[in-house]
Amino acid sequence: MPRLNVNGTLRDFEAEPDTPLLWALREQLGLTGTKYGCGIAQCGACTVHIDGAPVRSCVVPVSAVSAAAKIVTIEGLSRDGSHPVQKAWAALDVPQCGFCQSGMIMAAVALLKDKPNPSDADIDAAMTNICRCGTYNRVRAAIKVVALGGDARRAGLAIEHVGGRS
Ligand code: FES
Ligand code: FES
Repeated sequence: MPRLNVNGTLRDFEAEPDTPLLWALREQLGLTGTKYGCGIAQCGACTVHIDGAPVRSCVVPVSAVSAAAKIVTIEGLSRDGSHPVQKAWAALDVPQCGFCQSGMIMAAVALLKDKPNPSDADIDAAMTNICRCGTYNRVRAAIKVVALGGDARRAGLAIEHVGGRS
C-alpha cells in the first residue's frame, strides 16, 4: 500500500497513481484544511509544503511523492494556531470567507522561511495565490508583522477589536 509522510506521520492511503495529492490528503487522510479552488495550479488554495517548498497539490500526482518526502499541511503548522504566521493572521483579521487562507498561510510560511524580512517585491513574487475576497493588503501586512517579530503595534499595523483585543 502506498504511503505518504504527512505532518510527521507515515500514513497509508489508497488511490490511483495519477490521483492529485490534494485528493489523497483530503479524501483519504481527512486533512480538509487544504482547499480545492481551480485544479490547474492557478489559485494556490491547495498549497502544501513538500520538503519545505510550497507546492500546489492539485497538480501533483501521488505517484510523484515518495514516502520519504516530508509533506506539511495547514494542520501540521501547529496544533492550536500558535504558529507566528497564524498568530499574525489572527491579529490582523486577515481572513474574510477564509477559503483561500490555508494556502495563503502555507505560501507565506515558505516565503518567510526563505526570506525572513521580505521586500514588497519578494512578497509579490511569492504570494501569487488568488483571493476572491481581496485580502491581499492584509496578507501583505501580516507578513510584515511576522518579519518585524510578531508585534502588530510595533509594526504600526495593530487593529483595534471590539472588546479591546488588538
Ligand atoms: S486548487 Fe490548486 S492551485 Fe487552485
Ligand atoms: S478570504 Fe475569501 S477567498 Fe480569500
